[in-house]
Amino acid sequence: MIYAVVMNYIEKQIEEDELKPGNKLPSIRALAEQFSCSNNTIIKAYSELEKKHMIYSVSKSGYYVVERYHSRKPGQMDARTIDFLSAGPDKNAMPYRDYQHCINQAIEVYKEEMFTYSDIQGIYSLRAELARHLQDLQVFTVPERICVVSGSQQALHLFVMLPFPNGKRDICVEQPTHFSLIESIKLQEVTAFGVEITSKGIDMERLENLFKFKNIKFFYTVSRFQNPTGYSYSNAEKRKIVELATKYDVYIIEDDYMGDLDSNLKQDPMFAYDPSGRVIYTKSFSKVMLPGLRLGLAVIPDSLRASFLRAKFATDLHTPVLTQGALEIYLKSGMFKAHIQRMRSIYSNKATLLQKAYKEYLPPSAAYSGSLSGFYSTIRLPNPLNAKQFITYMNKENVYMDDAKKMYLPEFEKETLIRLSVSQVEEEMIGIGVQKIADGIKELLNTTSLFSHRSN
Ligand SMILES: Cc1ncc(COP(=O)(O)O)c(C=O)c1O
Repeated sequence: MIYAVVMNYIEKQIEEDELKPGNKLPSIRALAEQFSCSNNTIIKAYSELEKKHMIYSVSKSGYYVVERYHSRKPGQMDARTIDFLSAGPDKNAMPYRDYQHCINQAIEVYKEEMFTYSDIQGIYSLRAELARHLQDLQVFTVPERICVVSGSQQALHLFVMLPFPNGKRDICVEQPTHFSLIESIKLQEVTAFGVEITSKGIDMERLENLFKFKNIKFFYTVSRFQNPTGYSYSNAEKRKIVELATKYDVYIIEDDYMGDLDSNLKQDPMFAYDPSGRVIYTKSFSKVMLPGLRLGLAVIPDSLRASFLRAKFATDLHTPVLTQGALEIYLKSGMFKAHIQRMRSIYSNKATLLQKAYKEYLPPSAAYSGSLSGFYSTIRLPNPLNAKQFITYMNKENVYMDDAKKMYLPEFEKETLIRLSVSQVEEEMIGIGVQKIADGIKELLNTTSLFSHRSN
């Protein structure tokens, strides 16, 4: 197979540092001439190397070496490290080059706008593009209702702060939930009520009771690939929650931060069940693209627009024009769509491997959650293990993960839940990592039972 020979040749050049990170690879034609083969053979070799995340392609430019093979700095996590802790997107799959291209173009296209302050709500042409993109997620809206924000967290923080048209005050959240929202609630000293969510879903009865008897302004929900449980609601559950919210005049903040990763096109967002404004939809670009861009959006009801924009203005006037412009160009060029397809396949492969490993290796006393895409899942440690102590133990084995304690409201706090993010772990290391966790659980259980026997 000539393509395998070509792959070997390029791999060796990368390993031996003759091709460095960011270097452009030889053109398809040049390599075909060198190996006296067809262009298709080289394309096949390059696409196999892409699947191994060693190289990436930039449309109309060529192929480049990814960072990972050379990017470990001394003192950083070493090659044996299994990082289930980092929550950013898979570094090896990020479209740096494509985006660099778009930023360069945006400087040209938006130079006039950069000499002055811009629209608080976001560049109109970007909002029009976002409205088109949102249709793929079953969110049908108009640019006038979209607000571009500096990361979706900004919108969430402002929603916690702002009065809502229903005149109510308190907030309802899933337990556990996204840590930054908990921080926002604590910082602003807002009263919040929690509803437990597990791998089996949410406690619908408690949710209804809170809607009915408490003064709930909005219910904050991460409707798919929930952080940290990975739970995704069924369409029936989403419809039911929207019905309850309408019945009791509660708003819903639907945080669809990973919606792009859902390949099941039959999954509707809650927004689809009530596009009138009852459901406020937010979207992040941090999990499928670059968190450092700080780009997100919120689809806001007309009744909230003026106060939201006033708060956004008081916070940062507007989101930087340069990153907005680059996103617009990225979306328009079709690069985003192509990128999303790749990300979907990367994350669904990883999530499937993780679920398989949980099933195979974890002892029955350790319950786990998660789904078949997205990054996050949890393991509930068996009694009497505690997350903090377990994490310290596993760090010595070079396996890293997060303690989910901070993802709870104080009255719900649990000491036994760990969160795993699969985004930075290479496919071949997922099973090994889960095996190490399973061994760690068994060893610590043995030590604690020995200890309790001795002390009895
Ligand atoms: C559930 C959830 N929503 C929102 C965000 C924030 O995203 P952004 O970077 O767009 O502010 C995160 C980030 O981790 C998240 O986990």
